[in-house]
Amino acid sequence: MNPVIIAIDGEASTGKSTQAKKIAEKFDYNYRDSGAYYRAITLYLIQNNINSNENINHSILDNIALEQIYKDKKLTIYLNDIDVSEKIRGFKVSVNVSNYAKIPEIRNFVYKQLRKSVKSNSLVIDGRDIGTVVFPDATFKFFLSADPKIRAERRHKQINDKSVKLESIEEEIKSRDNTDSTRKIAPLKKADDAYEIDVTLLTIDQVFEKILHKINSK
Ligand code: DC
Repeated sequence: MNPVIIAIDGEASTGKSTQAKKIAEKFDYNYRDSGAYYRAITLYLIQNNINSNENINHSILDNIALEQIYKDKKLTIYLNDIDVSEKIRGFKVSVNVSNYAKIPEIRNFVYKQLRKSVKSNSLVIDGRDIGTVVFPDATFKFFLSADPKIRAERRHKQINDKSVKLESIEEEIKSRDNTDSTRKIAPLKKADDAYEIDVTLLTIDQVFEKILHKINSK
């Protein structure tokens, strides 16, 4: 039997990874967070003072080894054998990642990692271009969207550091969506055959129910 691929694309902070993990758990599939690859590469490049407007070619990317292990409902991200799962969520990576994610060499590097993850495993992947570019033949495609204000409020609640202002989170979310959806290569957009869910007024469980209903009714 061919592996099942479920693509969960959408805007920043719409709960894509939460839903992807719930689906992976429900069906006992593997899980990949494509944004985490872009974040880990961004972390490496920032740490090595390599700017997003420089020529980022193979000789640089060959020094980056990435691995994602999904076990016991937890995803761990390794950058050159170091666990960077926490570090890649920091503000510095978040505000810079979209600029690095525009670079074709970086995108191709991530595509290779994602495509080799499938092998014979069924997989849930969240991202921006999974259903449009990386796996256009995915078995199921979902696209999550929501009002940026609500997304910022939800994220603000999750962050323990109250010195981070709600307004700056909303700005960061909007600016990332803008960069991601206006870039030339693989922009953030709904695939024609994706099922869109506006999560603004829905709870996590309500979104999950809609996703399950769609999967079970095929
Ligand atoms: O899913 P995330 O917010 O962790 O993703 C971080 C950034 O990575 C996002 O703003 C753009 C980029 N990204 C991308 O360009 N394509 C993907 N499939 C996933 C993420």
